[in-house]
Amino acid sequence: MSVTTSDPALSGIDLVDPDNYVDGVPHAWFDELRRRAPVVWHEEPSPNAGFWAVTTYEDLVTVHMDWETYSSEIGAVALEELDERQLEIRKTMLETDPPRHRELRNICNKRFSARAVGRYEDFIREIARRVLDRALPMGELDFVAEIAKELPIRFLCAIFEVPQEDAPQLIGWGDRMIGNQDPDFADVVVDRGDTEAFRYLPFRSPAALEVFAYADRMRDQRLVEPQDDIINALTVAQSEGILNEQEFHNYFSLLMIAGNETTRHTISHGMQALIEHPDQLELLRRDPSIVPTAVEEILRWATPVMHFRRTVTRDTELHGQAIRAGDKVVTWYISANHDETVFADPYRFDLRRRPNEHVTFGPGGPHFCLGAHLARLETTILFQELLPRLRSIELAGPVERMRSNFVNGIKRMPVRVQLA
Ligand code: HEM
Repeated sequence: MSVTTSDPALSGIDLVDPDNYVDGVPHAWFDELRRRAPVVWHEEPSPNAGFWAVTTYEDLVTVHMDWETYSSEIGAVALEELDERQLEIRKTMLETDPPRHRELRNICNKRFSARAVGRYEDFIREIARRVLDRALPMGELDFVAEIAKELPIRFLCAIFEVPQEDAPQLIGWGDRMIGNQDPDFADVVVDRGDTEAFRYLPFRSPAALEVFAYADRMRDQRLVEPQDDIINALTVAQSEGILNEQEFHNYFSLLMIAGNETTRHTISHGMQALIEHPDQLELLRRDPSIVPTAVEEILRWATPVMHFRRTVTRDTELHGQAIRAGDKVVTWYISANHDETVFADPYRFDLRRRPNEHVTFGPGGPHFCLGAHLARLETTILFQELLPRLRSIELAGPVERMRSNFVNGIKRMPVRVQLA
């Protein structure tokens, strides 16, 4: 499967096969597409029908801001095609348009504001210290397993107000769901095994059933003893009929997965980039005042979510390309974040980059990432706490990437550290 074009420079470009991301993001392909065919038809394996691949920054912004033409609700937001029933059962706020979208998002929007999240700063710092104090004295360690994986889920346990002891279980479920294209994680690999039995579950993953049962237990506790937390807000929304049972389950899973995997990969990519750019690591160590711009560059560099998808509601045109109602449009954040017309020298890792209007959390349409403040705060605190503790850090083995066309993920990163 590949892009459909008569241009020989683009022949063989296949953005769908997850194997094409195992050795690294195929940036050279995205570069060619931005230059030669910014909106191009891409075939897909049956039963999917193919999609328009959108690779420039400007076109991505157009699609995400115009939700009336590019709907999140009438198709899905992933590559996988869903029938009506699957869509209905698996729907989260990601798969809705206004006004329903606003209603769902309002259930916990305020709890993710900069102010609300800021209240957790000391707590997050304390967890970061604990995780680092346990992990770093090992000397040689897997940065993903011991640090990057541990932190976001522990922060999430805190804001969900669920027991910290549950963190490993939540990590495992997240891995199994979002890693559904990677044999190291998936119960059944989606493009290799038969996942028909799980077609109504998020990510077609049986792990979702365990997450749902867990969410039910947490809800039942809130019904007996209400708390001032996010699960309570979801519980109330269900009692008031704003969420049905499935929507409650899907909401909980979305927050758990979205809040866990993405931030983890940001932290891992950030660390890898700092190791591979010692001048930038040194710069950040010497001048902690650049942390805010550094975190933005780490976010741009990492782009943990590589694409999302929309479905066109009416015949339209994008970058001169006629697009028909019902067509699927896939926007590649990973490409937009390296668009040379927006980011000077986009493959330079520059912690002082300014401006840096990356689209790692989306470009600001209705679906702009709910957890952006939280993710920024977690990443900031981690590097603020980590760097002063280190005399040196280096890779101690190969960095292993996830097999996925959706998540730009690192699953193992052996490092050797010397403490300051
Ligand atoms: C670095 C970490 C993160 C990245 C890269 C990321 C990325 C994204 C992206 C690309 C979107 C879709 C934006 C669009 O449609 O253009 C999104 C939406 C969302 N994210 Fe994040 N995210 C991160 C962290 C989090 C965290 C920590 C949470 C919450 C615990 C979260 C919850 C959500 C939710 C609920 C949505 C759906 C919003 C909506 O549909 O209105 N994310 N995220």
